[in-house]
Amino acid sequence: MAFPQDRLRRLRACEGLRRMVRETRLSPDNLIAPFFVCEGRDVRHPIASMPGQSRFSVDHLIKGAGEVQALGIPSILLFGIPAMKDETGSSAWAPDGIVQRAVRSIKDRLPDLVVITDICIDEYTTHGHCGVVKDGRVLNDETIECLQKMALSHARAGADMVAPSDMMDGRVRALRATLDGDRFAHIPILAYAAKFASCFYAPFREAADSSPKFGDRQSYQMDPANRREALREIELDIEEGADVVMVKPALPCLDIIRDARETFSRPLAAYQVSGEYSMIKAAAQHGWLDERRAMLETLVSIRRAGADLILTYFAKEAALALQR
Ligand code: PBG
Repeated sequence: MAFPQDRLRRLRACEGLRRMVRETRLSPDNLIAPFFVCEGRDVRHPIASMPGQSRFSVDHLIKGAGEVQALGIPSILLFGIPAMKDETGSSAWAPDGIVQRAVRSIKDRLPDLVVITDICIDEYTTHGHCGVVKDGRVLNDETIECLQKMALSHARAGADMVAPSDMMDGRVRALRATLDGDRFAHIPILAYAAKFASCFYAPFREAADSSPKFGDRQSYQMDPANRREALREIELDIEEGADVVMVKPALPCLDIIRDARETFSRPLAAYQVSGEYSMIKAAAQHGWLDERRAMLETLVSIRRAGADLILTYFAKEAALALQR
């Protein structure tokens, strides 16, 4: 059957009909809200390159996390801004480090909120790379040892899930073994599996003060031109024991998200990264885009591509918009 009998516009005539045939749903259940936590008390330091986002001290973090939970968002992701950085990022696994203290406070006050911690040393190293550096090179296996100590200390502090974002080879297997060996076999791993070397992380690096002081991240993060390799990265992380796999960034990688959805049965996450967020905010501030619609359209598109979960700085605003 074709035109004139068939008319697709019949089911677009009013909002009721459109709701009835809508194929993709966006719910607060799908969202994970990232937070930056820093030292001090009563600190709410706005991040210039990410309008609406701030670095919070633990007291404000608890408030922010509570608001997010009240809106029906089940989970947050924590990034730490430590007071002290060194060559190997040792404050990343300090028992009383910033993330460890933040996790303990949140789990104490909001026990049902799922707290995920980012596992990567770039915010903690003086050089800003995601690994141990020697002679100008980022070392793989030495870095894994740091990640193991970091993940274990987060688990001991009460983290519900750990999310390695470093892109070292073999780190998921190593983290699984470490957690299992220390009574944390129940803690899932969310692996940043296909993480591309993207310019869209730039605002985050201002937020986290983690820009590499020399070189770039192309020797560990993926070349954005590579589709087959992305599937190989995801496959390996699943073999190594990842419970949830992630594609990052999101909008430039909708094809990879779709490929991953069709190839693997694991829950799939996508990270709408800082640059994707700031791009929409900046255009909206100029009056060039409707912020609310741009936010919801991009989030629905990421869901339509196949992501179950979306990490997004819009989490709270999106959950609010979905209430109306
Ligand atoms: C590394 C990490 C980064 C992001 C998440 N984890 C930065 C990077 O790889 O340079 C980027 C997130 C974003 O841009 O929102 N710890």
